Amino acid sequence: MGNLYGLIGCPVEHSMSPAIHNDAFKEKNMEHHYHAFHVEPEDLKESVKALKLLEVKGFNVTIPHKISIIPFLDELHETAKIAGAVNTVVNDNGRLIGHNTDGNGYVESLKEMVNKPVSDHKILIIGAGGAARGIFLALTHQGCRDIDISNRTISKAEELIQECPFTNNSNALTIQEAEDVIENYDIIIQTTAVGLHPHIDQKPLSLKNAKKTAIVSDIIYNPIYTALLKEAEELGLTVHTGVGMFVHQAALAFKIWTKQAPSIEKMTKIVYNQLG
Ligand code: ATR
Repeated sequence: MGNLYGLIGCPVEHSMSPAIHNDAFKEKNMEHHYHAFHVEPEDLKESVKALKLLEVKGFNVTIPHKISIIPFLDELHETAKIAGAVNTVVNDNGRLIGHNTDGNGYVESLKEMVNKPVSDHKILIIGAGGAARGIFLALTHQGCRDIDISNRTISKAEELIQECPFTNNSNALTIQEAEDVIENYDIIIQTTAVGLHPHIDQKPLSLKNAKKTAIVSDIIYNPIYTALLKEAEELGLTVHTGVGMFVHQAALAFKIWTKQAPSIEKMTKIVYNQLG
């Protein structure tokens, strides 16, 4: 008999996670099922308890529970400790262990885009929230030492840089300062909410002066082509959509749960077919 897996968050109604995980289970001839559970913040504690009691073998965690779930878990894997947030939980015989596959998922997807080590690139991260933190730390673990962080609230970028032991070369910049030196970067990573509903037509900065060889990433995957990525495409820059990170974080979670690697191509195709 198959096991139950799932997702908790709110909203989860438009999540692509059930489609890609259920397809991967089918592909691997597993009878498991993945279900999206809408969980309001005030119900988080009871919901986590219920998932444990019902022997749900693993679940993903999305907005707004990635940090607030931590007190309700039994253990944190190194990835979750580093990120300070959880996106994947394993139920190990009644012990809930929190992992984070977001940062490494991003790095895996970025590796598909570059033809030399990611650490050979000068990188700009726009944003200094939870998502930026996970990506920043995952990149530094890959050996990247040349990463600047630009944020609307510059003190948050400064705090993030101070937290990381490997970033002597890093600068905290305002968004305007980053735009003024945009030509310095090989990879530009957009992690803010700008480009998401209701900011769908907005972009944090202009790419007009970016290097022609620059890779521009946006971690938003719905819409797939944000205003920033549309500008990147018009300028002939290399576009790296948020679908890559989404699919790779899911594949890493799938591997943690089942010890098997799903098809990245198949997952990617499902997301593009639904949202593209
Ligand atoms: P997440 O976990 O998705 O990163 P978060 O921790 O709330 O979410 O961080 C949101 C990020 O988007 C922050 O960098 C935030 O900038 P501030 O630190 O200045 O708040 C950024 N952000 C959100 N809305 C923004 C906007 N309208 N303009 C610029 N930056 C914005």
